[in-house]
Amino acid sequence: MMENYKQLKRKINELEEELKLYKRFVEHVNFPFSYVDYQLGKVINKERNALSLTVETVKKNNNASSTLKWNIDLQKDYPFEQVEQFLAPIFDLVSHHIVFVDAEGIITLCNLQAANDIGVNRDEIIGKHIRELLNIPDEQIMTLKTLQTKQPLYNCEVLDRYYGIVNTRILYNEDGSIKRVISMFQSLNQMKEAEKLAIAGRIAAGIAHEIRNPLTTVRGYLQFLREQLPEHIVTLIDQLLIPELDRANDIITDFLNIAKPNEAKAEWIEVNHFIQNDVDLLLKSEALLHNVELSYRLDEKLQHYAVYIDKNQLLQVLINLFRNAIEAKTEKSLHVNIETKLHNNLVQIYVRDNGPGIPPTIIHHVFDPFFSTKSTGTGLGLSLSRKIVELHKGSMRVQSEFGHGACFIIELPAYSKK
Ligand SMILES: Nc1ncnc2c1ncn2[C@@H]1O[C@H](COP(=O)(O)OP(=O)(O)OP(=O)(O)O)[C@@H](O)[C@H]1O
Ligand SMILES: [Mg+2]
Repeated sequence: MMENYKQLKRKINELEEELKLYKRFVEHVNFPFSYVDYQLGKVINKERNALSLTVETVKKNNNASSTLKWNIDLQKDYPFEQVEQFLAPIFDLVSHHIVFVDAEGIITLCNLQAANDIGVNRDEIIGKHIRELLNIPDEQIMTLKTLQTKQPLYNCEVLDRYYGIVNTRILYNEDGSIKRVISMFQSLNQMKEAEKLAIAGRIAAGIAHEIRNPLTTVRGYLQFLREQLPEHIVTLIDQLLIPELDRANDIITDFLNIAKPNEAKAEWIEVNHFIQNDVDLLLKSEALLHNVELSYRLDEKLQHYAVYIDKNQLLQVLINLFRNAIEAKTEKSLHVNIETKLHNNLVQIYVRDNGPGIPPTIIHHVFDPFFSTKSTGTGLGLSLSRKIVELHKGSMRVQSEFGHGACFIIELPAYSKK
């Protein structure tokens, strides 16, 4: 009898412990919920921020199934930093720029598109002030304007260096203070470029037809006539007239290429290999000829990545950049450096020179068709180059501090070989 009683007591103790464990466990669950158990006729409720549970009675019903309802509020119950971390990879798929800042203007989230377009390392920019990302005066930063005025912006047009449409929204803490300002920027720069190129293309098609034919006729007649002309005129024809006509023809061909570049014959290549072999072979002789020092700095990480490009077209781009550097050369000895880097899944090729650089007044125009500061330049080199890079799903931009050389940056999607 005594033995039985002891056993029962032990059993009761065990069950009590087990019950306590369940209770404590449920109390530790961070999220509010309500659980209805019809078979037991009980309801457990857990309120937000409450430590303990409340248990109520309901009518028993063996046929009804039990229900569990989570009353989670993402903003209130979940640490917002974790929500952000969860959102970041989703926002990386968006082609607009998405940036979150806290009440102090410190970046807490920046999607890949924003980091890539602005040319920063995404991981390094988190935790910095938004002005360090955009590099424009505070008054022009719409996110800061929203922070200051506490007014979200709806489809606001931005007309500075970043041309496009910006939207901002505010997320509040429970006490009414600002938790985040979210900004989404839709860049229209490319659209503007595309528009320009489309116009250029239409003009090109028109002039090419109207000019090329008479040029061919004149060239043909000159060749025909030279047989019957005195020698000094033949020299003039051979050394001046025909080369000039050919040059005019080349310009038209170049321009037509901008409107409708040749079909790319793309293949998988390793960028460093391409630069060390194909590019170097071509540039070396020109460098020697013009007394230019040529150097390379190639990121070894790139050996595990490939890009999909038409070698000849990319070669054309690098030659254009190299020639521009040579043509900009002053008395100072010229040094051209080609650097490759892996950056946010992009292969970057930097072509830097230590020449005079590009004045701020013209830097925004150097990629425009026909923009040239040279007496014999056609101003097509850079617009054609950019078009080629864009056809390879890449982008091209320039940085220059006037007086300290120019740096052209080509970015192409990198594909891991693994
Ligand atoms: N490395 C550089 N340093 C200084 N200025 C440059 C450099 N590269 C380009 N530029 C400026 O950009 C302009 C446009 O260059 P782009 O290559 O498109 O045309 P271009 O060289 O003038 O003519 P083309 O290449 O058609 O013969 C140049 O005229 C020059 O003013
Ligand atoms: Mg050029």
